[in-house]
Amino acid sequence: MGKNLAVLASGNGSNAENLIRYFRGKESAEVKLVLTNRPEAYVLNRARNLNVPSRYISRHDWVEGTSVLTLLQEYQIDFIVLAGFLARIPEVILQAYPDRIVNIHPSLLPKFGGKGMYGDHVHQAVIAAGELESGISIHFLNERYDEGHIIAQYHCVVEPTDTPETLAAKVHALEYAYYPQVIEQLLQGY
Ligand code: GRF
Repeated sequence: MGKNLAVLASGNGSNAENLIRYFRGKESAEVKLVLTNRPEAYVLNRARNLNVPSRYISRHDWVEGTSVLTLLQEYQIDFIVLAGFLARIPEVILQAYPDRIVNIHPSLLPKFGGKGMYGDHVHQAVIAAGELESGISIHFLNERYDEGHIIAQYHCVVEPTDTPETLAAKVHALEYAYYPQVIEQLLQGY
């Protein structure tokens, strides 16, 4: 039986769109719901254009959690995929989905993870530290952000001429190529 996925995103949502497109027409899984914590997030437009149900969830509801959980249950969501989601996952949801929430981080964790390390901040920090490589980490989510078990990592070279923008583009390319595949493989074990 195909798994029902919910994708959570706070911003642009290019990974969310990539996931929706990848799983469309596949038997393994389908993105059934897109949730965001920002009413102006571009991911809402993407979901609408692709005819995937989407909702903005207020800060209050993310903190409290039960109404989000009810929504996930309504859509019979089996697995939660974070793609640039910048709010905390409520405790009730972490408990209801043990080892069923995955996140993608745009660095080689544990390097450049943790507080304040999101979006271009990560790429700026990688370049400032003179790193020779960066990449992506796909990991399970637990109560401590960016510290859940790492499922897979993929590397890219950091050139001396790289800027946060060019590095972000390399990292995004890795995300588009690998995130859906890794999730698909992971789902085979459930
Ligand atoms: C990605 O680089 C992801 O790794 C990070 O936030 C970015 C989201 O980009 N956590 P998009 O919204 O999918 O375009």
